[in-house]
Amino acid sequence: MSNGNAVGNIFCEKAGCPVKKRGMFICIEGLDASGKTTHAHRLVRNLQKRGFEAIYTTEPSAGEIGKFIRKYVLQRRKRVPSVVEALLFAVDRVDHVEKKIKPALQEGKIVVSDRYVYSSLAYQGAAGLETKWIEEINELALPPGLAIYIDVPAEVVVRRLRRRRSVMERLEIQRKVREAYMRLVKNGSLIPVDGNRPRDEVSKDVLTIVLDFLKSWGKH
Ligand SMILES: Nc1ncnc2c1ncn2[C@@H]1O[C@H](COP(=O)(O)OP(=O)(O)OP(=O)(O)O)[C@@H](O)[C@H]1O
Ligand SMILES: [Mg+2]
Repeated sequence: MSNGNAVGNIFCEKAGCPVKKRGMFICIEGLDASGKTTHAHRLVRNLQKRGFEAIYTTEPSAGEIGKFIRKYVLQRRKRVPSVVEALLFAVDRVDHVEKKIKPALQEGKIVVSDRYVYSSLAYQGAAGLETKWIEEINELALPPGLAIYIDVPAEVVVRRLRRRRSVMERLEIQRKVREAYMRLVKNGSLIPVDGNRPRDEVSKDVLTIVLDFLKSWGKH
């Protein structure tokens, strides 16, 4: 990943933050059905209630490449080769960063992305691709200021996933992906939150982590 500047002081008079317009980029990661969308939306609402300008976005993105991925990669019974998955997600990510994330950050907004580069490292890494290569093809991905991992055991997500069809629903896949995510927690790339609790407890912890981080940045 390149060393772009995705973090900085946030414009928020109400919260008493310094008046300097530079955005903050946050991503929420986790297994399928771990609660990413639920908690990314709740985080955006909670930040807005506190006077921050925050937006929700997701990967695959809402752009043309993201739409292609949903149709030809995710909505199939059989997985496409993992190299193809990795390359498509990396291209969509550049499109997402350039068209949506960077413009919002330049307007001083907090951008909350539901999945980001760690999903590629975890899913395509679990599928057998080398971490180094996945990092290389994602070199243009702007590094987030904060990356939160909603941790839910594989058995729990598989139970939640049975209610819908998914190419990723198998327990062994989810277990391997969770191991890959936990390596990213161990090396300090991701901050874990126990997602196997009532929704309100999880979202409270996510908000606390983000507000503490914003406060520490406000001091710089
Ligand atoms: N803490 C929780 N306890 C129980 N159920 C939860 C919790 N958080 C989310 N859920 C439920 O789990 C399901 C999946 O949640 P959600 O769609 O937010 O997950 P996701 O990680 O975004 O999934 P996907 O990877 O498929 O986009 C939903 O039915 C949601 O209501
Ligand atoms: Mg989701």
